[in-house]
Amino acid sequence: MMDKCVTVIVGTKWGDEGKGKIAAREAKDANLVIRATGGANAGHTVIYKGMKLALHLVPGGIVYPQTTCIIGPGTVVDPDVLCSEIAMLENCGIPDVKSRLKISGRTHVILPYHKDLDELHEKMKEHPVGTTKRGIGPCYSDKDNRIGIRMYDLLLPKAELKKKIVEATKLHNQAFQENGMEECIVDANNLTNHCQSVGLKLKPCITDIAPIIADNIQNSKKIVVEGAQAFRLDLDHGDYPMVTSSNPVTAGTLCGAALPPQALKTVIGIDKAYNSRVGNGPFPTELPASIDSNGNVMEYTKPLEGDIIRELGHEYGTTTKRPRRCGWMDAVILRSAKYTCGIDYLCINHLDTLGEIGNRIGYVKICVGYSYQGNIIDFYPDDIELTHEIPEPIYKTLNGGWTIDSSCKTYDDLPELAKKFVKIVEETSNIPVKY
Ligand code: IMP
Repeated sequence: MMDKCVTVIVGTKWGDEGKGKIAAREAKDANLVIRATGGANAGHTVIYKGMKLALHLVPGGIVYPQTTCIIGPGTVVDPDVLCSEIAMLENCGIPDVKSRLKISGRTHVILPYHKDLDELHEKMKEHPVGTTKRGIGPCYSDKDNRIGIRMYDLLLPKAELKKKIVEATKLHNQAFQENGMEECIVDANNLTNHCQSVGLKLKPCITDIAPIIADNIQNSKKIVVEGAQAFRLDLDHGDYPMVTSSNPVTAGTLCGAALPPQALKTVIGIDKAYNSRVGNGPFPTELPASIDSNGNVMEYTKPLEGDIIRELGHEYGTTTKRPRRCGWMDAVILRSAKYTCGIDYLCINHLDTLGEIGNRIGYVKICVGYSYQGNIIDFYPDDIELTHEIPEPIYKTLNGGWTIDSSCKTYDDLPELAKKFVKIVEETSNIPVKY
């Protein structure tokens, strides 16, 4: 029998639910904190000694000196971003960053041509995904094509590494040539030199993570998987093709972290009391907002409901600063997330903000079902691409709003209307709300 010592933090919608905050809370008494999927498309904000640290790759658990932090083999890492993040953490006085951070040598590396390809692929699509342009998709597709460059490769002798880079970029260079992007054509010699120099900086962290994981599980040490992206952005279970290129659902994070499923103890699903999405794709409870087709905020004199939520919730991307599309809480998606991600408990962030939104608009809404193709359904439909129909939300409305101040610490301290909101979410999603 294997001890159950793993807690997974998973996003239940389209990212930006506030996973970093709960991951940091769970990491307080953890021994190991692991990033398992995605790359610098994620953005987690962590507060350390009053300083606001924006992390894209290093797990937020690094702020606790007892933790070892792993960047798992399921992630894709931009080594330049990682080097800057490590330097920033060291400058902030966080101890022993390089000795506590372990990067799986199997992790695939995002190089500048991946970002150029991301740009090109988006430009060529009639319906762009609205990616973060961090090179995520192209790096994962190189991995699938078995032409990826991995962390271990950065430590190879120059000639060997150069050979791999030449092989990896043959087709990409042709694409740059054909699409008038000659400036992006890879100079294999320069890139090899660059890779070797970042490889040298990261060398103390690049390692085989399997023995570390085995040791932690054998000794029943608490392991936290810090989820990135979310259920509806999952490559296999989200709104394909408007998704990311990894599997942020629980099973995907276990694979990306190199963890055995038998060690899983708890899955905490994270959501916000209202919902948001950045990038394109279906969003049934989205509210009208003054955002143009390029995702920019237009000038307005009277804010629409989506603008009110965006402004009160400060809904702008941590990574790209893009304004987020905003809408009401969709508890139907939570019900689907419960089963696909095996969620044990929910954390609902921004309940205070939703109260303010209610105070301003006069009501708050919760989606408890959908009207779709002439039927009432309580599960997120799979065939939206086929029907070209976005499910019509069926709402429960609570009149008014509420105010939550810092004296509110428990469920019992909540205003009655906020408690009612939480109850409706629990009943619809069939998941207990714990935080
Ligand atoms: P990519 O991951 O950059 O390829 O982007 C694919 C889609 O996922 C786009 O709609 C992005 O906006 C979205 N996305 C990726 N990472 C995040 C995240 O951390 N938070 C929110 N949305 C994300």
